[in-house]
Amino acid sequence: MCGIVGYIGRKERAQDVILDGLRRLEYRGYDSAGIAINHGDELRVVRTLGKLLNLESALRDVPLVGAVGIGHTRWATHGRPSERNAHPHRVGTVALIHNGIVENYLSLAKELQSAGCELTSDTDTEVIAHLIYEARKSGAGLIEAVRETVSRIEGSYAIAVIDERESDRIVVAKNGGSPAIVAPGDGEAFLASDIPAILPYTRQMIPLEDGDIALLRAESIEIFDAAGTRIEREIRRIQWDPVRAEKGGYDRFMQKEIYEQPRAISDTIGARALEEQGEIDLDGIELDPKWVEELRGIHLIAMGTARHACLIGADIFERAARIPATVDFSAEYRYRDPVVGDRHLLIPVSQSGETTDTVVAARAGRERGARTLAVCNTQDSTIARECDDVLYTHCGPEIGVASTKCFTGQIVALYLIALRLGRLRGTLDRGAVREAIVDLRRLPRLVERALQSWNAIEQVSRRYAHFSNFLFLGRGLGYPVAMEGALKLKEISYIHAEGYAAGEMKHGPIALIDEQMPVLLVATGSPTYEKVLANAAEARARGGIVIAIADEGNTEIRDYADDVLFVPPAPEPLSAVLATIPLQIFAYQIATLKGTDVDQPRNLAKSVTVE
Ligand code: M6R
Repeated sequence: MCGIVGYIGRKERAQDVILDGLRRLEYRGYDSAGIAINHGDELRVVRTLGKLLNLESALRDVPLVGAVGIGHTRWATHGRPSERNAHPHRVGTVALIHNGIVENYLSLAKELQSAGCELTSDTDTEVIAHLIYEARKSGAGLIEAVRETVSRIEGSYAIAVIDERESDRIVVAKNGGSPAIVAPGDGEAFLASDIPAILPYTRQMIPLEDGDIALLRAESIEIFDAAGTRIEREIRRIQWDPVRAEKGGYDRFMQKEIYEQPRAISDTIGARALEEQGEIDLDGIELDPKWVEELRGIHLIAMGTARHACLIGADIFERAARIPATVDFSAEYRYRDPVVGDRHLLIPVSQSGETTDTVVAARAGRERGARTLAVCNTQDSTIARECDDVLYTHCGPEIGVASTKCFTGQIVALYLIALRLGRLRGTLDRGAVREAIVDLRRLPRLVERALQSWNAIEQVSRRYAHFSNFLFLGRGLGYPVAMEGALKLKEISYIHAEGYAAGEMKHGPIALIDEQMPVLLVATGSPTYEKVLANAAEARARGGIVIAIADEGNTEIRDYADDVLFVPPAPEPLSAVLATIPLQIFAYQIATLKGTDVDQPRNLAKSVTVE
């Protein structure tokens, strides 16, 4: 969380590039924002509480002119959101921005205070700025001062530092779960937490690795290791299209991203599905058939929405490839001593590729010998780089904090992997894979059709926007879909919503059901459809209001539900993708009616890079 941006290059340009970058990174946190610009020998800092708009209006009257600068948008960890806790932190001639957590900041703060330093914020970050400045006072150059300082920090950090006495450079350092990329331009250089910040300016980037310290000057980027030895890092080409990171006429990114799903799914299938051969090509990822045959299990790990996709994935793996599959919260997996080794395939799933819990859990599995195959949306992110293999979802940048198109993209990617494993293990023949491919290729058009019900869903959502509690129920694949629907609603509308396995309803949650607690029921075609209908009847018998998600053409469902949101029928597991669409739209419309900030809901950040 927290977005960091930096620019060095042409005079007068730094503020504009940094504000633009912060706008594109605001999904990483929006508790406060700040900017520091070096102009000649003078360093100026402006910080404001709240969203970036406040910083923009503060700078409107008194712009900061200069060719070198850094900017920050904060998601508060240590110290409540306030101007004094906002970054950049300035100490003497030095200004610093930070994403991450300094675990030993209390002992460092004590040491600094005993030496006479006055700390003016409640953050863990401020100690870094003091240590760098102290090292500068003792005669170290900026890069040496940063190197000395980071050797004393425990925790994770992506920092960028400028100093008015060395105004031709920015020093960047990275360690732990805080991403940082640096990028060369034409007589300029950039740094950022994420690709969207630099998309309009360059097609090249270098993701920094743990322990890297980068020296950015207008004409050059040099990278050093912790010992100060120069190292070479490969320049990567950015694949994302800059236009995809714009709202493109939509009111909100989330709306645009919901509408983008047909394209995102179609790009994720891409050339991987070989219909004629009845085979799947996972971008050339080699899986030894003997190893696949002897696999003891697949472990899927993720957080939030990505974990819901994993729950669907696990079901698909067991059915298609007959391999036992488990799903864990990454945050739990790493601490629970899982039985995992070289006969296991570990699949971390992540939109950002930077979720710390997932990064660390994947490392833990890998250390125990598991082969890691990431499903990831962000090119060259930490998870993508560290895993043995990566199968990208080609959903394009997802800016709305609530994940939508990446969820359905992840289901499709997991399905492709399952089909491949099924072929390798002989549990699926070519004909079965061919049929699956035909269905997959139809999926984007079916999603388009589901999206055409937007206005109808809007009408239904108007009737329910005033309720304070919702129960989402589903069975089989409908259960993770129900959990995802509940998560979407609570994230963006702040309405209490729970997702339950419909079969569990009678074991407790049914006590909650009354006319104040609408039930959204996933009732699309599945082997348990009749049982789901029984659950609808039970809820209604207790005064509950039922809104069903059902297949077009289902005529009996109206007898079981007060409202129905129809989707085109499709075979499992693709029906899970289709059932998700109305739930995304329902949450979006309710949040819009309530007037919440749909793209940047309170307390959340897009990439959770702290534990
Ligand atoms: O980037 P990741 O997919 O690893 O993120 C995982 C979760 O933080 C994310 O899905 C979160 O739950 C979203 N806000 C859900 O909309």
